[in-house]
Amino acid sequence: MPYRSLRSFLERLERAGELVRVTEPVDPVLEMAALADRAAKQEGPALLFENPQAAAGSTPSSRAILPVAMNLFGTLRRTAWALSCEDLEEPAAELRALLHMAPPVSFWEKLMMLPKLGKLASYTPRHVGDGPVREIVDREPDLRSLPVLTTWPHDGGPFITLPQVVTRDPETGLRNVGMYRLQILGPRQLAMHWQLHKTATAHFRGYRKRGERMPVAIALGGDPALTYSASAPLPPGIDEYLFAGFLRKEGVPLVKCLTNDLEIPAEADIVIEGFVDPAAPLVREGPFGDHTGYYSLADDYPVLEVTCITRRGDAVYPATVVGPPPMEDLWLGKATERLFLPLLQTVFPEVVDMSFPAEGVFHNLCFVSIRKEFPGHAKKLMHGLWGSGQMANTKTLVVFDEDVDVQDHSQCAWRAFANVDARRDLVVVEGPVDVLDHAAPAFALGAKMGVDATRKWAEEGGREWPEPCVHPPDLLARMDALYQRLVPQAPPPRRPKIGPPPAASWSPRKGAA
Ligand SMILES: Cc1cc2nc3c(=O)[nH]c(=O)nc-3n(C[C@H](O)[C@H](O)[C@H](O)COP(=O)(O)O)c2cc1C
Repeated sequence: MPYRSLRSFLERLERAGELVRVTEPVDPVLEMAALADRAAKQEGPALLFENPQAAAGSTPSSRAILPVAMNLFGTLRRTAWALSCEDLEEPAAELRALLHMAPPVSFWEKLMMLPKLGKLASYTPRHVGDGPVREIVDREPDLRSLPVLTTWPHDGGPFITLPQVVTRDPETGLRNVGMYRLQILGPRQLAMHWQLHKTATAHFRGYRKRGERMPVAIALGGDPALTYSASAPLPPGIDEYLFAGFLRKEGVPLVKCLTNDLEIPAEADIVIEGFVDPAAPLVREGPFGDHTGYYSLADDYPVLEVTCITRRGDAVYPATVVGPPPMEDLWLGKATERLFLPLLQTVFPEVVDMSFPAEGVFHNLCFVSIRKEFPGHAKKLMHGLWGSGQMANTKTLVVFDEDVDVQDHSQCAWRAFANVDARRDLVVVEGPVDVLDHAAPAFALGAKMGVDATRKWAEEGGREWPEPCVHPPDLLARMDALYQRLVPQAPPPRRPKIGPPPAASWSPRKGAA
């Protein structure tokens, strides 16, 4: 059963002992973020702040302060629950099966075909006349009525951090839903931090070219699958609410906005409607303590003029704090890693697995294992990945053979340091990089590094290549049992999981079989 509201997800977490209600007054200015940071770092529970204590003077006293939910996605298990499954491998396997059913077309074409494939048609968004998000309508809105957090001391102000920002391509009419933070600048003004390479920025450029106002709607809460989908790197033209429908196994019910013609989830907790005037001057946005663990610098972004805020009577305001890893967004990234692996494998069938370590804050580091089939294969894959959607922003790509478990980051470090010759195995390319990369010499433009950490074949200049040291499994099992008898309190064995050696590299100097 999909969640009908954020509250129904919270109830599930509470039943499972994964929710803590915070009844003490806690300030949305810094205090909530510090507490949620502590919880996120320890894979602690979700937090429901029932008594947000408004920062002095920031909230009109006549308006209700809503409860705030944080650290909703703070563990792998909760993230799976948020996506209506027990294990992220379930929807990943389903995607893999669907993609195999489809005729052999390109990766993105396959994704486009999903709604046409059998039962997936029932996952497309449904249009409904009304919904709980309309229970309270405020046509004289004041953003300060929301308990919006200031998360780090040098932030430029309060930021909405878990939004679903709905826009539409003015040419094709296709919807996009993106997660872009939004800074409150005044009672009815939000700075829109959609970055240069993101879909909403392309839409903004389209409206500017046409000289038209850009309608925008921001949904908060509802089924957490909607929130996750806004963060998923789907290509332009693929509807995030369709993807959410696939995850929750039911089409997302949508209602029309009251003051523009976009559609928003009928079961969302809160919706902010408005328009961006592309002719209006840009506004200063930031600084903001970002997911890189550093402050992103202030820069110029478009401004949204808010026309209306609607919400449920029992709305909960969802928020996250990003910052030095690991943080809650690690698990949103993990969901993307698991769900997009089958999609990537349709284009790059040699990919066995991939992993984005927390320390790499998603775009700074990616480990990939491959079934290597020819000399230079790792380097070919690097270029392919850098040419695939948001993977273009991956600053460091390390490619391993299939016997390396890329989920074991300690093993990856050991193998990479051992297998790499700096002159032969590093690739440096130039191109677009993440907007938040403060090390890049120019804004959003810089260098990326590929590391070929595979065994080097003779054709690649490899000499005789040794195998890693591994005991036979039956001997290991016997000695583990003996050790357990000798040291009964011993924790489970800690040793790297090393797969069988890749066949092609087995005969030294011979290269591919
Ligand atoms: C918590 C969180 C906050 C994010 N904030 C931003 C942001 O402020 N600006 C941005 O461009 N992307 C941000 N992202 C990343 C985008 O949500 C992500 O790249 C998404 O795929 C963009 O969707 P799009 O391809 O439809 O533009 C954030 C992601 C998360 C998980």
